[in-house]
Amino acid sequence: MVSTFELEIVNSTNKKEKPSQDQVPFGTIFTDHMLTMEYSSDQGWHEPKITPYAPITLDPAAMIFHYGQTVFEGMKAYRTEDGRVLLFRPEKNFERLNLSSERLSIPPVDEKLMLEYLTKLIELEKDWVPSTPGTSLYIRPFIISTEANLAVAPAQSYKFMVILSPVGSYFPGGMKPVIIHVEDQFTRAVKGGTGMAKTAGNYSSGYQAQAQAKQAGNADVLWLDGVEKKYIEEVGSMNIFFKIDGEVLTPELNGSILKGITRTSIIELLNSWGIPVTERKISIQEIYQAFADGKIEEVFGTGTAAVISPVGELNWQGRKMVVNNHEIGELSQKLYDTITSIQTGKVEDALGWTV
Ligand code: COI
Repeated sequence: MVSTFELEIVNSTNKKEKPSQDQVPFGTIFTDHMLTMEYSSDQGWHEPKITPYAPITLDPAAMIFHYGQTVFEGMKAYRTEDGRVLLFRPEKNFERLNLSSERLSIPPVDEKLMLEYLTKLIELEKDWVPSTPGTSLYIRPFIISTEANLAVAPAQSYKFMVILSPVGSYFPGGMKPVIIHVEDQFTRAVKGGTGMAKTAGNYSSGYQAQAQAKQAGNADVLWLDGVEKKYIEEVGSMNIFFKIDGEVLTPELNGSILKGITRTSIIELLNSWGIPVTERKISIQEIYQAFADGKIEEVFGTGTAAVISPVGELNWQGRKMVVNNHEIGELSQKLYDTITSIQTGKVEDALGWTV
């Protein structure tokens, strides 16, 4: 009999058909197995299991449905040309999961053990890791509060899960600079709030602004700080970088900005190339001035899903700032090529990022 703290593996006997590799919309298809683990206040985290992928049952009073006590992560597994499967800095995701959990009053998980379990799950599902360029297996670890209780307080029970989803290229027609609305009505996050945590409410609270921006012909929004509506925070669900007059800039982590793993990797990569990155407050007025002076060279978002997403235009209070003639900048392209080559094992991983 398996102890309640040992990983149990139940193999699926009803394997699904794998989708055509490059035509999978993001996050719509899931693999044959999932990882689950339970938390109770008397046993702590226990009952880790890999089982066939299936719906779960929750009490309608489960606290996740009412007060949103939940956190998640996003990471990817990549197929190398010689058939191996690589994870990109996965320890950073579990480290951040625990930081998010701390903010949401969720008990921490054992980061090393989670990486071990994840490795077992990926080993079992390795045939699901696609190989065509730009594709990967998206990994979604998450924790939900499961206690049936309407009290406004941290739950006494939780479920940790990891599900896997093969994803096609983020840019099916090739990388394309996007048009962005600078949002000065709605707010994503404020200092002291949950902006630095990867938690559901940070995303759903952006939908209304994103829908309005899309209706006006933009792809997404640029979020400003929630107090003065002056300083730049994030773009869509990504971190943002600027290249202005030869200098690379990104907003400093201030408590309301997510510490993106792609963001950290870009800063480290640029530093290793001898290109310093300044992390500081950046006002939208300053960006407009740099645009007016013809000094904006490149703007790009960074995240796990897209890696790099170049910005071709910023619309702020009726003023249009076209960046690099709507073309992909040299640095954006070089960063995209380098990071994706490291992720897929095409170049030597001198910084030791892949597992
Ligand atoms: C990312 O850019 O990786 C994100 O955070 C988007 C994800 C929530 C789908």
